[in-house]
Amino acid sequence: MSDEHSIDKPWAGRFTAPTDAFVEAFTASVGFDKRLYRHDIAGSIAHARMLAHVGVLSEEECRQIVEGLEAIRGEIERGEFTWSAALEDVHMNIEARLTERIGEVGKKLHTGRSRNDQVATDIRLYLRDEIRELARELRRLQEGLLGLAEREAETIMPGFTHLQTAQPVTFGHHMLAWCEMLMRDQDRLRDAHRRVNVMPLGAAALAGTTYPIDREFTARELGFEAVCENSLDAVSDRDFAIDLLAACATLMMHLSRFSEELVLWSSAQFDFVDLGDRFCTGSSIMPQKKNPDVPELVRGKTGRIYGHLTSLLTLMKSQPLAYNKDNQEDKEPLFDTLDNVKGCLRLFADMMPQIEVRREPMREAARRGFSTATDLADYLVRKGVPFRDAHEIVGKAVRHGLDTGRDLSEMSLEELRRFSDAIDEDVYNVLTLEGSVAARDHLGGTAPKQVRAAVERARQRLEDFPLAR
Ligand code: ARG
Repeated sequence: MSDEHSIDKPWAGRFTAPTDAFVEAFTASVGFDKRLYRHDIAGSIAHARMLAHVGVLSEEECRQIVEGLEAIRGEIERGEFTWSAALEDVHMNIEARLTERIGEVGKKLHTGRSRNDQVATDIRLYLRDEIRELARELRRLQEGLLGLAEREAETIMPGFTHLQTAQPVTFGHHMLAWCEMLMRDQDRLRDAHRRVNVMPLGAAALAGTTYPIDREFTARELGFEAVCENSLDAVSDRDFAIDLLAACATLMMHLSRFSEELVLWSSAQFDFVDLGDRFCTGSSIMPQKKNPDVPELVRGKTGRIYGHLTSLLTLMKSQPLAYNKDNQEDKEPLFDTLDNVKGCLRLFADMMPQIEVRREPMREAARRGFSTATDLADYLVRKGVPFRDAHEIVGKAVRHGLDTGRDLSEMSLEELRRFSDAIDEDVYNVLTLEGSVAARDHLGGTAPKQVRAAVERARQRLEDFPLAR
């Protein structure tokens, strides 16, 4: 980046002294907002076409401007563009270069426009693309989860409450729980997209413009669904970005919880999954180690995304209408959020098919924890025992199991009958892990049959998110 302090500012007219060098560096945003160049150019091209459409520019002037802007896009993409901090931001850098390339006519582009409606438009165009990418990566992760759920529909694991073995569930069912949370995240992204996809251009600095602009025309050119109704609102608020950050924060909260499980499950103590060598790293000192760095880092990054949401909420809370320079601070938190959330989703989506499920240790853990105790109580209720009594009876049987080091299913009929004579030979149907999960055979239940049906429905439901395709 060049930082020639001497460059003429587009706003130099009313000034008599040059900007202080450090003020220039302090106020410049081009170092980070140059990543908006494609959207800035697209917005400018649409604006120029609109100006020609309403007769403010001639067709020839419009042609030169559009060609110039397209050439500049090429320069930027080939790394030939010289960004200048003296020109403050992406908008003025591109505009100055346009005039340098095509001469006087370049100076007409900014007619009926301000950087205030320009930057608001650029961010919305940028977020629109980014939300699409997020939605696609999220869908890829969901498809990975559905693949795992289908493959492991019969696989038994202990279900937990308080991280204590509660009841057996199927691994497929557990994966579907994550998929459901992510389905709501998809929905939140779709919602954020709907509110992002509204065009501020035409608001100009704050009050609108005296030129006979056609905002519907520009909106059609840029694929916006609607135009902002109020010019003051259009240039000031960033609630659409906050909506997206809130959706990202919730999504990261889900990924962080999921990460926590993967970290626990891949430990020697659980030994439920193997994350695959490609997604782990070793230790420089302990040769035996294989560390689940990816889920740990995803869990760790969640905090900074929450931080970015707080930054933007705080950024907006004291701003009087309309535009204030504070708003320039919206970009870095947004960019960092999108880069990181996209990265997390990408890694998780790649990791899903690589997860090796350790069926035996999971089954063994479910068996060890008296996970079918509720099934025995329900069995007694079906034989006419009131539930509270059944609870007490099973509690005693579990105590006996703890004392003798055995699961309920390993006790003889005679032994079990010591706790209740309502128990018969058929009790073993409910004491097995398979019997327990198969019995929860209703919509939303853990039975393998239900898991398979839920996978099919989830695949259908994903079709409701066209953004994600
Ligand atoms: N770099 C500025 C931003 O990010 C662009 C708009 C500046 N407008 C102004 N009147 N200073 O918000």
